[in-house]
Amino acid sequence: MPIEEEMELFEKKFSKSMISQVSLLNRITHYVVNRKGKQMRPMFVFLIAKMCNDGTVNERTYRGASVIELIHTATLVHDDVVDDSNRRRGFFSINALWKNKIAVLVGDYLLSKGLLLSIDNGDFDLLKIISVAVREMSEGELLQIEKTRRLDITEEVYFEIIRQKTATLIAACCAIGARSVNATDLTVENMRKFGELIGIAFQIKDDLFDYSEEMIGKPTGIDIKEKKMTLPLIYALNNASLKERNWLINSVKNHNKDRKRVKQVITFVKDNGGLDYATNEMKKFKQKALKLLEIYPDSSYKDSLMLMVNYVIDRKK
Ligand code: IPE
Ligand code: IPE
Ligand code: MG
Ligand code: MG
Repeated sequence: MPIEEEMELFEKKFSKSMISQVSLLNRITHYVVNRKGKQMRPMFVFLIAKMCNDGTVNERTYRGASVIELIHTATLVHDDVVDDSNRRRGFFSINALWKNKIAVLVGDYLLSKGLLLSIDNGDFDLLKIISVAVREMSEGELLQIEKTRRLDITEEVYFEIIRQKTATLIAACCAIGARSVNATDLTVENMRKFGELIGIAFQIKDDLFDYSEEMIGKPTGIDIKEKKMTLPLIYALNNASLKERNWLINSVKNHNKDRKRVKQVITFVKDNGGLDYATNEMKKFKQKALKLLEIYPDSSYKDSLMLMVNYVIDRKK
């Protein structure tokens, strides 16, 4: 892999970036670092920086990657509180082990460490890109809760939710990769757009996982339990008869904790083409993202970037 060295050094810097004087906090952050995720966001940062700068990165690139991964980790810690989820990355979530109180504070700590890493080093251009993402992620999660309560989500709103809660951070990491090596504004914007398209495809994939029974390191089948209506269900609803529609809505509204009923809803969605439809939509976003890479000269970094795009939709966890 053309960014192996960078990723190795990144991991050291990332782990250092969390150190605190409070031993409870250090115990928890050690736990977090030892159960690392796919690290897809830092990979995008490095690949894009190298593609835009003839294969070289700098300290700003490393800090940008760390900030993004810190903020990503913070949002996962909070998200598991919000979604009442007890597993993450194949093990217990922070809230499952240390309870909600501590998880909320740890999330805030990680967020502040991320922002400070930029501020303390004068990376204000990177900080600006990141801060927009942080705001949009909170708005996205809140918009989702608002829609969850009313159960009236349309496809358009679904795409807006996932653009905000997930795609905006991936957009930020792609923009930061380019910005860290002083690429032109045009390139930075193009990379932001690229990341946004990938991010949307990425969240559709995540929502598809929830309909499977694969072992992906976190619970599946919990979206309906949380009244979260995602693309497969929205499609099935839009194409159902009035009677089926009422049954679906009633299931999600009043029987969302009934495991048998949730299974029936999942089966209905599958039998009515919900997964196929969402898969197809995901592929469209992937194609649009790949198109944005066409103007860049061929390089091993660009090749890897294209592989990463395919990985986003073919991944098994
Ligand atoms: C999970 O992101 C949260 C979503 C936006 C779906 P990742 O799947 O990238 O999480 P890790 O870091 O690999 O665990
Ligand atoms: C993405 O939504 C969460 C964030 C953007 C933090 P989900 O709630 O679907 O993510 P998972 O499935 O818990 O990783
Ligand atoms: Mg969640
Ligand atoms: Mg999910």
